[in-house]
Amino acid sequence: MSRDLKLAFVGCGAIAEMHLMGIKEAAPDIRITAAIDPVAARAEAMAKRTGATPYTSLADGLAQGDFDAVDLMLPHHLHEDVALESFAAGKHVLLEKPMALTPESCDRILASARAAGTVFMVAENAQYWPEVVRAKELLDAGAIGEVVTARATVNAPLDRTSPFYAGARPWRFDKRSTGGGISLDVGSHWIRPLRMWLGEIDEAIAALDYPAKEMEGESLVRALFRFRSGTIATFDAGMLPGTVFGPEVLFRITGTGGEIVIESHAGGRLALYDSEHPKGLKEEARGYLHSYGPEFADFASAVLHGTPLAAGPEQAIGELRTALAMYRSADSKQWEKVWE
Ligand SMILES: NC(=O)c1ccc[n+]([C@@H]2O[C@H](COP(=O)([O-])OP(=O)(O)OC[C@H]3O[C@@H](n4cnc5c(N)ncnc54)[C@H](O)[C@@H]3O)[C@@H](O)[C@H]2O)c1
Repeated sequence: MSRDLKLAFVGCGAIAEMHLMGIKEAAPDIRITAAIDPVAARAEAMAKRTGATPYTSLADGLAQGDFDAVDLMLPHHLHEDVALESFAAGKHVLLEKPMALTPESCDRILASARAAGTVFMVAENAQYWPEVVRAKELLDAGAIGEVVTARATVNAPLDRTSPFYAGARPWRFDKRSTGGGISLDVGSHWIRPLRMWLGEIDEAIAALDYPAKEMEGESLVRALFRFRSGTIATFDAGMLPGTVFGPEVLFRITGTGGEIVIESHAGGRLALYDSEHPKGLKEEARGYLHSYGPEFADFASAVLHGTPLAAGPEQAIGELRTALAMYRSADSKQWEKVWE
């Protein structure tokens, strides 16, 4: 089949900008034909830039619009309803992470995807983060021997001028809308790589703190994960208002023969340390922002050509379950199983 994929943007907020960038970068066969947002000015602005038709509700878009697939980019508590509505209308669905707020809600979404028989993908862009993919290739090639441990770190200022935290009271500050804090939200992009490299997480132990006073969910987490393989890793995330941070190593994978290190965010660079390169073999940086292009290329190919996704949507339940296990652990002060 060779034709365009007609896509509706549902939610024309902050992440829609990244999605638009990714489509332009790597998915030329996607055409945005509908821009849907209850804030009419946002729908109209996106429509103007893309040539789409604006709508102020998904119901209107589904009734009147011309599209095969939806890209759902909404606050977390809305994910289940809009996904079910879209599958009931027979659409292919790309749904931003987390899939939903509970594993039961995820199961209902997966069941409705199966009933529709359309493509369903959860937009966990870390699956396509160039340095994360490269690290996986290096690990599979045995570049650092057997993996001994890994460390994942994401600490950043809570920037109220950023579009992700704009407005008088962003939905991200309300637990009812987010389902949690940094572990469940930004954390998924650090937990997915750990699962790609080390396999499934068996249990987690975590302590939480709340330095960003406006945010109901945790803005600081220090956690340990034990994988089914027995390997342990750390997960360390913080979102602090006002703090000026020093340089950061985002991931460090330590093996019997060396280390793979991914440093800094958008300009992220991967370096391999081994006996041949004790000062580090540093690769050209592509960075996190180049994860969206391949994400859309994968979705378009799955819809237009029936190719398998890099990761099925059920994978995304793992990040959610890991965050929920961390929350239970913070209360129980014990290791908590991720999958029970
Ligand atoms: N993958 C990533 O890197 C990444 C980064 C940021 C956000 N996200 C995810 O993207 C999603 C949206 O986050 P955001 O930061 O863009 O939020 P946002 O608040 O900037 O945008 C959400 C938009 O949805 C609109 N909206 C609300 N209810 C709607 C409805 N019923 N139908 C249509 N539109 C509706 C809002 O008016 C708003 O414009 C969340 O799931 C979030 O976790 C992912």
